[in-house]
Amino acid sequence: MHIPTIKPLYLKIITHIGALLPLAWTVQDYFTNNLTVNPIQELTFRTGRYALILLILTLAITPLNALFGWRKLIPVRRLFGLYAALYATLHFLIFVGLDYGFDRELLQEAIFEKRYALIGFSAFLILLALALTSNRSAMKRLGKRWKKLHRLVYLAGGLAIVHFIWVVKADLTRPLLYGSVMALFLLFRLRPLRRWAQSIRVRFRRTGTLKVGETRP
Ligand code: HEM
Repeated sequence: MHIPTIKPLYLKIITHIGALLPLAWTVQDYFTNNLTVNPIQELTFRTGRYALILLILTLAITPLNALFGWRKLIPVRRLFGLYAALYATLHFLIFVGLDYGFDRELLQEAIFEKRYALIGFSAFLILLALALTSNRSAMKRLGKRWKKLHRLVYLAGGLAIVHFIWVVKADLTRPLLYGSVMALFLLFRLRPLRRWAQSIRVRFRRTGTLKVGETRP
């Protein structure tokens, strides 16, 4: 399967626009008073949701590449990650600034006593560290450690899901749905599964058709 021949530059432009649209839509809703009766909570929910969706999209690129050979998506992975960090930062700033009015004591109490806030904060710190080290110079400086550090994206994803579960409390449908998708992507880190995906891809490319269980002569 091939991605339609989109030039890498266009793919990046589409990603920028797609990732910024929810922000533009939220800003518009803010200025037109369309953010429910509790606008601060709605802003917190929306930015949290966008951060998580972008994080999941970041994690989707490796399996998509393994299954379909969509290498063109690799540069877009970094953009998704950066936008996930941007929305997580906005989510954090709304919590710290609008919700808690930058009150240090109250914030300390909230972050260290509310388990959902502590785990969200941990996920946020990881995303921030990854965003700050996602450039070429950090890659060079960190050498082999760069890859190890950036594997923490899976930990950030797991923490964000637990945060989501603790936030919603009763109806676990949404966090479990997001969590299952994330777990599926995580499976593709396992070597046997990656090899299997690769072998299917090669066979598919050779024959043009995919017959499950078929072996090459
Ligand atoms: C500094 C760290 C964080 C803090 C203090 C924080 C705080 C919050 C708060 C207060 C809520 C709303 C709770 C409520 O009113 O019931 C929330 C919801 C949420 N947060 Fe966070 N959060 C943090 C980090 C993150 C991160 C890193 C992510 C994702 C990558 C995330 C994803 C979510 C999601 C998905 C929701 C629920 C949205 C919904 O119900 O649709 N949060 N968070």
